[in-house]
Amino acid sequence: MSEIKTYPVNEYFTERALINTEQYQAMYQASVEDPEGFWAEHGQRIEWMKPYSKIKDVSFAYDDVHIRWFYDGTLNPTVSCLDRHLAERGDQTAIIWEGDDPTTDAKVTYRALYHKVCRLANALKAQGIKKGDVVTIYMPMVVEAAVAMLACARIGAIHSVIFGGFSPESIAGRVEDCQSNCIITADEGVRGGKIIPLKKNVDDALAKPGAATVKTVVVFQRTGNDIEWTEGRDVWYHDITDAASDECAPEEMSAEDPLFILYTSGSTGKPKGVMHTCGGYLVYASMTHQYIFDYQEGDIYWCTADVGWITGHSYIVYGPLANGAVTLMFEGVPNYPDVSRCWQVVDKHKVNVFYTAPTAIRALMQAGDDPVKSTSRESLRLLGTVGEPINPEAWEWYYHVVGDERCAIVDTWWQTETGGVLLTPLPGAIPVKPGSATLPFFGAIPGIVDNEGNLLEGVCEGNLVFKDSWPGQMRSVYGDHQRFKDTYFATYKGYYCSGDGARRDEDGYYWITGRVDDVLNVSGHRMGTAEVESALVAHHATSEAAVVGYPHDIKGQGIYAYVTLKKGYEETDELIQELKDFVRSEIGGIAVPDIIQWAPAVPKTRSGKIMRRILRKIACNELDSMGDTSTLADPTVVDNLIANRAHQ
Ligand code: WTA
Repeated sequence: MSEIKTYPVNEYFTERALINTEQYQAMYQASVEDPEGFWAEHGQRIEWMKPYSKIKDVSFAYDDVHIRWFYDGTLNPTVSCLDRHLAERGDQTAIIWEGDDPTTDAKVTYRALYHKVCRLANALKAQGIKKGDVVTIYMPMVVEAAVAMLACARIGAIHSVIFGGFSPESIAGRVEDCQSNCIITADEGVRGGKIIPLKKNVDDALAKPGAATVKTVVVFQRTGNDIEWTEGRDVWYHDITDAASDECAPEEMSAEDPLFILYTSGSTGKPKGVMHTCGGYLVYASMTHQYIFDYQEGDIYWCTADVGWITGHSYIVYGPLANGAVTLMFEGVPNYPDVSRCWQVVDKHKVNVFYTAPTAIRALMQAGDDPVKSTSRESLRLLGTVGEPINPEAWEWYYHVVGDERCAIVDTWWQTETGGVLLTPLPGAIPVKPGSATLPFFGAIPGIVDNEGNLLEGVCEGNLVFKDSWPGQMRSVYGDHQRFKDTYFATYKGYYCSGDGARRDEDGYYWITGRVDDVLNVSGHRMGTAEVESALVAHHATSEAAVVGYPHDIKGQGIYAYVTLKKGYEETDELIQELKDFVRSEIGGIAVPDIIQWAPAVPKTRSGKIMRRILRKIACNELDSMGDTSTLADPTVVDNLIANRAHQ
């Protein structure tokens, strides 16, 4: 890999960084050699009610998977995020809110945030919500979305945030899975100048069987437009919070009580409820946030994710607030009103740290340098990426054009399951190579195994696993521990299986090669091929569907669907559009196939299994390397698909 350029540690961070190269090496060594000692010390970075004396109790053995950290301690995570800042920084801004409309913004201090959280916490209690209940949050990117999460945590309710782009069908499925009894939503959302009918989606979801557990819908007024109202079920956010006290004692939680559930796509079945707990998650989210972004007093930090994803949970809300940071929440999108928006926001609020996804960088890169160069961006010190592999061209553009060759870049690899970043450079410690997530964070012990589960040494390529636990690791699939074991611990015995492929180079740097399972990564969002297939076959005209990913310039991966129609239906462009709309209503916009190809039949093995490998080759136009097709039941099926390949 000698032709790959290495960038030395950034000059600015050589001077100021919290962690330099020697410190990284020493701390990493300590975290691996004596995890109990290491985490006993670093667990103290958050506030505990009853201090822990037991640090770690972990088994990755398939028959007995269990993960516990700091497990005799008690705490309430909101005390670290709010109460402890009041004395020193009560009047400091906690959240800068930047509205979709560039003329709207707001600043909320730690004290104001504390009182907002306490009010909603009391209001939820008055609605009968209690410790252990699951509260669904389906909100736009407004301050009250963070308030809702923290208010749940304050009273020990488990929050389940659903991204505002998901459909009523998806909401209903998630509500049913976790038996949620309350939904916090808004009348409407506003994004890129468009209105999103959030309350209507909730109404439609609750009309479905299965969602009957929901007794209360709390509605935040964002636009004030007319909405349908169900008396006895719906309450206005402002009514119930105005009536509530602004002080609410924090519920005492065990370190291992659930803090939240977040649904994420896997290679099979419905999305699963990834469960994170109160203690270890907060320790890990706050520690990674501080060191990876070199967060120091006064820095203005902006993560562009939506709170509906894990990145929003860990790096807009919990990590930054636990660190007393100034965290920016952006309601809009990078290309509204125009493609300079991000940099205008950076200049307006003097942002020092900017964290986004490669798909956004690629889209902005396509619009050329001028929209970037017309802004100053001189406040920027550090640029981060997350969510998918970043191609070196996009990395270089980010570095040279956005960062003016002055900013450090951190390519952070992690997952909903990991709670926080596991592979990443630290800006003052680790030289970077464009396209590599570089080295493990403290406590993360990566390994690469072959398909038989043998651990590979030195320079190699294979499946990325982790050999031991870290405090931010998910503890279970909510309500289905068997699925947790089967998904992550059955394939390679004794290891946490990430589902990603990776290569390790001669410097020990990790290069993520993408998912090795049937999970797609579309614009940094996870989508299971099985989910899209089952949405397609739910349509009355279809008899079969097979979905694969293909390389897409902006999205990273696009969705390519092969669809077989039932007898009597015609293969028309109108029907293609109808199927796309149908998937949108079944799952949401992010699942809509980019391409649908009619398939009189899909290739199967003689035992009836769909041969996705071949479908992937056709979708990617790699027709010279189809590989072995001798197991096909009917080889002419493939010839037909090749002849009628849809053009991208
Ligand atoms: C991918 C997002 C390459 C990966 C935090 C992982 C990445 C999945 C990177 C998790 C990165 C995330 N380089 N690939 N820096 N970061 N991924 O659960 O395939 O939405 O398994 O969590 O995104 O997506 P998730």
